[in-house]
Amino acid sequence: MRIGVLVSGTGTNLQALLDAQAAGALAPAELVVVIANVPDAPALDRARRAGVATEVVDHRGRARAAFEDALAEALARHRAEAVVLAGFMRILTAGFVDRYPQRIVNTHPSLLPAFPGRDAPAQALAYGVKLAGVTIHFVDATVDGGPIIAQAAVAVEDGDDARALHARIQREEHRLLPIVVQRLAAGRLSCQGRHVRSRAE
Ligand code: GAR
Repeated sequence: MRIGVLVSGTGTNLQALLDAQAAGALAPAELVVVIANVPDAPALDRARRAGVATEVVDHRGRARAAFEDALAEALARHRAEAVVLAGFMRILTAGFVDRYPQRIVNTHPSLLPAFPGRDAPAQALAYGVKLAGVTIHFVDATVDGGPIIAQAAVAVEDGDDARALHARIQREEHRLLPIVVQRLAAGRLSCQGRHVRSRAE
């Protein structure tokens, strides 16, 4: 399954996917293009170093529908069949997500449905939760609201700030995301309503 990865920033989750691919652990998923909405996103360098094609689709100066059309065109140019949002910080509307039913996954640094949106680790700390974590989910037209594929909890420690907590959450993201992408490509994720079954074999 040909996978396009959408990024906006540092790209440590992308790196986890690239490393898994290099280790032969992602097949039958194949990363075919990395698309950034931010022209100087460091994630693009990670893709280039790994020999994966890159594209920039800048959201600035484009209406949302035109931006989403341009994203879909870039994905189509590389014949991507599924999409991974790996630190992609734009909201996607039904106009985009309906083109890839149960073929878009996102990683989000909270135990959804708690703390959707931006700065989830800071939201979790401000609320005073004792358990934070990561959620990998299918993307639908709601914000961080699609069916949950995988979650891992991370304990909040005394003295945590958002940066320290996010760093520990990311260790779990980097472990889970390649597993989910491999299973998606292998046809091992099935979704009925909100319930996702994820099979190792
Ligand atoms: C990741 O922790 C991801 O969960 C989060 O952004 C970070 C990107 O890091 N995504 C969101 O908050 C989406 N709402 P990365 O660029 O190093 O992969």
